[in-house]
Amino acid sequence: MSKKTVFVTGASRGIGRAVVDRFLEDGWQVAMAARSLDVLKEIEAAHPGVSKAWHLDVSDRAEVDKVVAEAVEAFGGLDLVINNAGRGERTPIDAISDEDWHGMISVNLDGPMFVTRAALPHIPKGGQIINVSSVLGKVGSAYSSAYCASKFGLIGFTKALALELAGRGIQVNAVCPGWVATEMAESGIVLEAEKLGIPTSTLRMKLMMDVPQRRFLEAEEIAHLMAYLATPGARGITGQAISICGGLCPA
Ligand SMILES: NC(=O)c1ccc[n+]([C@@H]2O[C@H](COP(=O)([O-])OP(=O)(O)OC[C@H]3O[C@@H](n4cnc5c(N)ncnc54)[C@H](OP(=O)(O)O)[C@@H]3O)[C@@H](O)[C@H]2O)c1
Repeated sequence: MSKKTVFVTGASRGIGRAVVDRFLEDGWQVAMAARSLDVLKEIEAAHPGVSKAWHLDVSDRAEVDKVVAEAVEAFGGLDLVINNAGRGERTPIDAISDEDWHGMISVNLDGPMFVTRAALPHIPKGGQIINVSSVLGKVGSAYSSAYCASKFGLIGFTKALALELAGRGIQVNAVCPGWVATEMAESGIVLEAEKLGIPTSTLRMKLMMDVPQRRFLEAEEIAHLMAYLATPGARGITGQAISICGGLCPA
């Protein structure tokens, strides 16, 4: 049986890297895209033939079109697209520049649309798109208006597309993590603790008081959910925004 292929953005670290490892373990071919090409090239060298690396800034439409076309050519099609690349900053609304706002929207919302549009003609019946939103795509958070707007928007994109593509046998879902122990979460906590003038350990503890499981999730747990969504047994799941957050988000 021929191997299936997943295209993963933001594959160089954090959740994206865990997704790469998980799908390689599960016997998939993995097309990896991020700006840190050197990191991806190391993975490619460790998994020759079944993984391939591309430099990609998801906010650059022309580069997206080129990279997706090359990935399709390399692997003969794409069974699963995981729009994981993202950025996150907390800025009060009075201090957000046009550049900050558009930067966030272009990576977190335009990027998934560019990748999806380019990949769609090459996704067969039975294929799937998974968008990485956030619990902040479901509930607001002060000083995160740009991030929340992008992640709420990504859930809307997911739900509309799921209806549009159901007849073509393509599933579209969003995964909504809570706190996951990655560089994005860690750097955000360090910055915030500095602003508040408290130790990072105190802020970490404070944040965990809102999480019923009282812990950061591991990136591997998010990858595990995606691996499940990619199984035939999950083919009835589409148009969903699935929280994975230790109970942080009520729905
Ligand atoms: N960690 C959390 O607590 C958390 C919670 C909810 C949702 N999320 C979401 O999960 C996703 C992954 O986050 P993470 O925590 O794994 O963050 P991370 O460790 O900072 O990784 C982000 C990934 O996105 C890539 N990336 C950033 N900007 C990019 C761009 N313009 N074009 C292409 N790739 C880009 C980065 O690679 P390069 O720098 O090499 O390009 C990196 O591989 C994001 O969408 C994030 O919003 C995270």
